[in-house]
Amino acid sequence: MENDFDGIAWCYDSIVKLIFGGRLHRASIQWLETLNTSDKVMILGGGSGKILKYLTHVECIIFIEKSPKMIKLAKASAPENVQFICADFLKHTIESESSHVVICPFFLDLFSPIQLGEVLNKIARILKKKGSLFVSDFQYTTWWSKQLIKLMYAFFGISTRIAARELAPLDTLILARAFENSTYLVRTDGMIFSKAYTKINKD
Ligand SMILES: C[S@@+](CC[C@H](N)C(=O)[O-])C[C@H]1O[C@@H](n2cnc3c(N)ncnc32)[C@H](O)[C@@H]1O
Repeated sequence: MENDFDGIAWCYDSIVKLIFGGRLHRASIQWLETLNTSDKVMILGGGSGKILKYLTHVECIIFIEKSPKMIKLAKASAPENVQFICADFLKHTIESESSHVVICPFFLDLFSPIQLGEVLNKIARILKKKGSLFVSDFQYTTWWSKQLIKLMYAFFGISTRIAARELAPLDTLILARAFENSTYLVRTDGMIFSKAYTKINKD
């Protein structure tokens, strides 16, 4: 099975911390305080759920995660406002225009180019008009960043059989679909970026 994080669920957070310190976590929680209490928020590939404690002010959170072991970890410390769905995002049926915000913390980098197109189309479909997409992920900056990202793809290729072979130009692909930049909500920390996009109203 592709993108199978069950085998490394127990050590994923420690590996990330060892390599990046708290940088990925900080990127994932960027902008969360801008969410409204009444927003319907969907988190995709939320892993062990570390970001959930920064969303206690939001009433409705749907957490979609494919790995049963990751979901188990997330449930262990989750606030009450979270509905957990253990499923593959691409296969799970979700109502159109049902979310104000979709959050993708280090999720989009897992997919092959064709799957990534499907994921972005599906996110655009489930977001309400003018809804927001929050992405934290990697980008190439220096030669070193390229080598480290290559190494990560090799590691996750073996340990989780991730579908992607290399990092796609995520920002460009998102902007080429039904999204535009949200003013001001962009932060880069070297090879890591956190950015908010707004769904373009095509009507
Ligand atoms: C790189 S990890 C990031 C975890 C967490 N967001 C973080 O930043 O710590 C990617 C997560 O996405 C989940 N995942 C992979 N493919 C998925 C899919 N198709 N649907 C839902 N979750 C998926 C994995 O199980 C894993 O927990």
